[in-house]
Amino acid sequence: MSVSTFNLWPKKLVIGQGSIGQLGDEVKAFGAKKVILFAGPHISKTKIVLEPVQALKDAGLDICLFSSFGANPTDVQVMGAVEKIKEFKPDIIVCIGGGSPIDAAKAANVIYTHGGTLAEYDAAIGGFQKIEPKLLPFIAIPTTAGTGTEVTWVSVITSTEKNLKFGVLSPFLIPDVAVLDPDLTLGLPPKTTAYTGMDALTHLIEAYVSVVNFPIADAMCIHGIKMVRDALPVAFADGNNIKAREDMLVASMMAGAAFTVNNLGLCHQMAHQLSAYCGLAHGLANAILLPHVMKFNLPANPKKYADVAEALGADIKGMPVEVAACKAVELVEKLCAELGIPRHLDDVGVDKSLVPAMAITALQDNVGNTNPRPTTVEQCEQVFYCAFRR
Ligand SMILES: [Fe+2]
Repeated sequence: MSVSTFNLWPKKLVIGQGSIGQLGDEVKAFGAKKVILFAGPHISKTKIVLEPVQALKDAGLDICLFSSFGANPTDVQVMGAVEKIKEFKPDIIVCIGGGSPIDAAKAANVIYTHGGTLAEYDAAIGGFQKIEPKLLPFIAIPTTAGTGTEVTWVSVITSTEKNLKFGVLSPFLIPDVAVLDPDLTLGLPPKTTAYTGMDALTHLIEAYVSVVNFPIADAMCIHGIKMVRDALPVAFADGNNIKAREDMLVASMMAGAAFTVNNLGLCHQMAHQLSAYCGLAHGLANAILLPHVMKFNLPANPKKYADVAEALGADIKGMPVEVAACKAVELVEKLCAELGIPRHLDDVGVDKSLVPAMAITALQDNVGNTNPRPTTVEQCEQVFYCAFRR
């Protein structure tokens, strides 16, 4: 028998339409008086940010708004945020935005409270052990339903020197509070809804079939897959459907909690390269690759893929497990088609000659070291090639 310890769960969740209205109370619960509020640049002048800012001011709090993070935040941008924190000296950090600003704010919190440079905290060189429980309180408020970073222990930052993404990881990076308000996601365009939603589905499937089998995470994955199955097509077709928007936020959050424990797999290893080499949106890269990675992984654990098929809505009663497992691939392909996602990497301008280099760097990405099927560079290349039309 082996003993496993998991300390990677969300700390406090506030969920529901209008929950952003509780932000002032959540801030005051920490005894805070000075709030630095990080926000994505596209929303910093919209009511998504301006209304909470006004509400916090009305509650007598001193607010500083910072919105200089781009997509795929860099170490340079994070250090700029650290300077702002040093200048303002807040006693709490709040972040409203997608995965990029939340990741950047997490990283800025580490540097502000620990000093040094971000490279020193790269998880690949043991940075994990340098992060202590002395971060500023952190409240994360997602405006997309996909990354799950509002409940994860991860911050992904791009090194400007190496042009590579690296992870800063620590249980202490899990936000103290995550506020999931579907009103904040109503303005997401259908394409962004589809890409981010497919990122969440990929998290759920990869965490479920991972070689780490934490039972609570597994249960969240199956329930999350069912929620995405029902809610994502609705949110895509009718962006104002509050129930679908809320269900996608909850499913995305559960995915984040699940993969924080179970980790991910080959699809994310490969998708990270498509973003780094070709600038593909993360969710789009996952969506195109996912059926191909599933086909490759099926023989390693057909029972788990049969479970995924059932959660996606297949009637698998009486089917041999290998046949039921294949239904999972068919249903993911059907969902992608329904969401108008391009099927092939040539459709989105990926240069096939990059495959050998991408396959090598993919397998160096430890986000997939829990993939159910051990993978060689040649096998990874073949999975990439399967995703091309010709
Ligand atoms: Fe992802």
